[in-house]
Amino acid sequence: MKVLTINGSERARGSTWTAARQVLQHARERGCETEGVDLADKRIVRCECGRCNSRPEPCPVDDDVAAIVEAMIEADAVVLAAPVHGFGPASLMQTFIERAGVGHLRFARPLTNKIGAAVVVGRRYGHLEVHAQLLHNLLLNRFIVVGSGFPAILHSGGERGVLSDAEGMDALRRTVDRIVDIGTALAASGTALPVPGEIERRLGRTG
Ligand SMILES: Cc1cc2nc3c(=O)[nH]c(=O)nc-3n(C[C@H](O)[C@H](O)[C@H](O)COP(=O)(O)O)c2cc1C
Repeated sequence: MKVLTINGSERARGSTWTAARQVLQHARERGCETEGVDLADKRIVRCECGRCNSRPEPCPVDDDVAAIVEAMIEADAVVLAAPVHGFGPASLMQTFIERAGVGHLRFARPLTNKIGAAVVVGRRYGHLEVHAQLLHNLLLNRFIVVGSGFPAILHSGGERGVLSDAEGMDALRRTVDRIVDIGTALAASGTALPVPGEIERRLGRTG
C-alpha cells in the first residue's frame, strides 16, 4: 500500500516536515511505499475567480494542484500535515484544500474510500481545532478516516522540536499503524465499497 503525506507548512523543512517524515519512515517500516509532498516546494496560487463552486468543469488554473490531486488518487492513504497559524491551519494548506476540493475533487470525489488521517503541529494553541478541520475535509472527500485514539498533534517548542514531544510522536506512530492495519484488512477483505461518484449517480447530481 502507498502512503502519501501532504505537508502544508510554508516552511518546506520545518517542524511539520519533520512530523511528515516520521509518518513516512514508520509507514516504510510497516512495509509501505511512500511519497511526501511539500506544498512549499509547489506552485499553488490562490483562487482568483471565486466561481469554482458553481463551475461545471474543473479549475483551469495552470499550477501544481492538479498534479498533487493525481498523486492523492494514486495513493492508498493520505496524511494531511499542517501547522497551526493564528489558531487555524496555515494558509498554504487552506489554499490547497480549497483549490483541490472545490476546483478538482468536488465532481466525482475520486478519493472515496482511501484511508485518511491528519497530523497537526503547533507551539501550543489551536491544535484540536485544526485537526478537526482537516478531518472534516477528509470526510467531505469520503475518506475512511482513522485515528490512534488520541489525535496526532505535536508541540514544536521542545529542545528537539516535535521530536521532543514523546506523547505526540507515539500518537503519530499509532496513527500510521491504524492506517496500515485498516488499509491492509480492507484490501484483504475484498469487500465492495461504494465507488467514486456512486452517491452522485444515485442522486442524479454532478457534485
Ligand atoms: C504566522 C504564524 C502563526 C502561528 N500561530 C500559532 C497558533 O495560533 N498556535 C500555535 O500553537 N502555534 C502557532 N504558531 C507556531 C507554529 O505553529 C509552530 O512554530 C510550528 O512548528 C510551525 O511549523 P513549521 O515549522 O512546519 O513551520 C504560529 C507560527 C506562525 C509563523
